[in-house]
Amino acid sequence: MTPPLIALEAITKSFGATRALDHVSFAIGRGSVHAIVGENGAGKSTLMKILMGIHAPDSGRIVLDGQPVTLPSPQAARGLGIDIVFQEVVLCPNLSILENLFLGREKVWKGSMQFPQMRRRTQEVLQTVGLHSSPDRLVGGLSVAQKQMVQIGRAILNEPRVLILDEPTSALTRDGVDALFVILRRLHNQDVTILYISHKLEEVFAIADRATVLRDGRHVWTGPVKEVSPDRLVELMVGRELDLSHRVEGKPGEVLLEVSDLWGEGFERISFTVRAGEVVGLAGLVGAGRTELVETLFGVRPPKQGEIRFQGRPIQGMSIPGRIKAGLGLVPEDRQFSGLVFALPLRENVSLPEVATRRLGRLRINRRREHKAARDAIKTMRIVASGVEAEILSLSGGNQQKAVIGKWLSPRPKLLILDDPTRGIDVGAKAEIHQFIRGIAAEGRGVLMVSSELPELLALCDRILVMREGILTGEMAGESATEEAIMRLAVGAKRG
Ligand SMILES: Nc1ncnc2c1ncn2[C@@H]1O[C@H](COP(=O)(O)OP(=O)(O)OP(=O)(O)O)[C@@H](O)[C@H]1O
Ligand SMILES: [Mg+2]
Repeated sequence: MTPPLIALEAITKSFGATRALDHVSFAIGRGSVHAIVGENGAGKSTLMKILMGIHAPDSGRIVLDGQPVTLPSPQAARGLGIDIVFQEVVLCPNLSILENLFLGREKVWKGSMQFPQMRRRTQEVLQTVGLHSSPDRLVGGLSVAQKQMVQIGRAILNEPRVLILDEPTSALTRDGVDALFVILRRLHNQDVTILYISHKLEEVFAIADRATVLRDGRHVWTGPVKEVSPDRLVELMVGRELDLSHRVEGKPGEVLLEVSDLWGEGFERISFTVRAGEVVGLAGLVGAGRTELVETLFGVRPPKQGEIRFQGRPIQGMSIPGRIKAGLGLVPEDRQFSGLVFALPLRENVSLPEVATRRLGRLRINRRREHKAARDAIKTMRIVASGVEAEILSLSGGNQQKAVIGKWLSPRPKLLILDDPTRGIDVGAKAEIHQFIRGIAAEGRGVLMVSSELPELLALCDRILVMREGILTGEMAGESATEEAIMRLAVGAKRG
């Protein structure tokens, strides 16, 4: 019997008191597309970083082609034919595609820069990833999906045998995901083994032939995707029953937010209202102007003209702390840069909205309240962290995002604006966030929510507004809306 391409044997890894991986053992077959799934903080990224030579395991072995290997560095992993595409874009915008592909790897070409070869290889790689562009084009001018293709191009530059993708689609639109899958199938046909991390189970079922489930750092299951149903996979991931909450018919109350003929950077002529007790969705493609709009509502950007009334009062000239005091909250899209202060522990991050409103008044911070707010956030949002003093950077990606939402638990804003709140969040946490959102509406408060996931909008929203290229192209009642109808308004497709 030929050995599997990779055998992981009792891999264990702790960060301080956190055991990220606990005796994880499973095998990855040659040429398979192997999905790694699990809740936020389950240990997926840590395991991939071990395979990539970024972290060393505390104990356990990696056996490649029947031979135990050590991977002291990413260079060593690359030398053995392993490469990775990270979730975040890690490219230099002011360098060309060619320069980005070869950055730090120029010496692959025998000591001296061999531009004709590098150019030829770039063209081949661009062909493989389906990016029809000149190698000299600056990366800064590319779309998110195109940048993602360049990142994949960089990862396959040296023809790896194993390609790891850690949540590659969280910034992609549906077309972007389709394009990615075309590339992955092409690589699969060339016998590249693919390790695919995603929280989107539809993707797992569409692309993977095998899957591994991790839960709390432990290996739970590995097997053919054909042998599990989506429900069963979720059960294996969360180890408990999920309470999926849906739209409940309620009577909307007073108008909370009234936007009239608002113009700003990236959008124009926007008018709509959000009432108490309502969840209003904002659909559209990436670049439709949704983030610019919600940032303007919260005061992050100034409007060019028009009016924003909150509970009857014009607020377009108000400061952000003023708006928080008035009862607005925003969970921003760009959590990595604007949602969290990495230098502060979880406890202080969670109390930021409250601190912001006090900047002018009492500066004293109530430690007891801060502690309680942080403990509540950890409990309600099920944040996996070592405690209230945990450093933000030590949390897994999804748990950092839960912390941003957790910030708004205790200020209890009258209207909470959420910009793609469940991006990168696992199924269990997603269900909890959905419940939290419905709970806000049930208490007679309001929610305005941007989401790129249509099923989420359909399940949660009383009304759905659709934006395309900066304007509102339509509005639908949640109960009668369909994915097709929303997409038609979002892309401006012709009839028939
Ligand atoms: N550098 C680090 N320092 C301290 N703790 C860490 C570090 N990296 C990861 N951890 C912890 O290890 C555990 C596993 O994290 P990991 O990032 O592997 O999870 P994940 O499965 O990738 O989650 P997500 O779906 O949220 O990305 C978490 O409890 C996390 O807080
Ligand atoms: Mg991760």
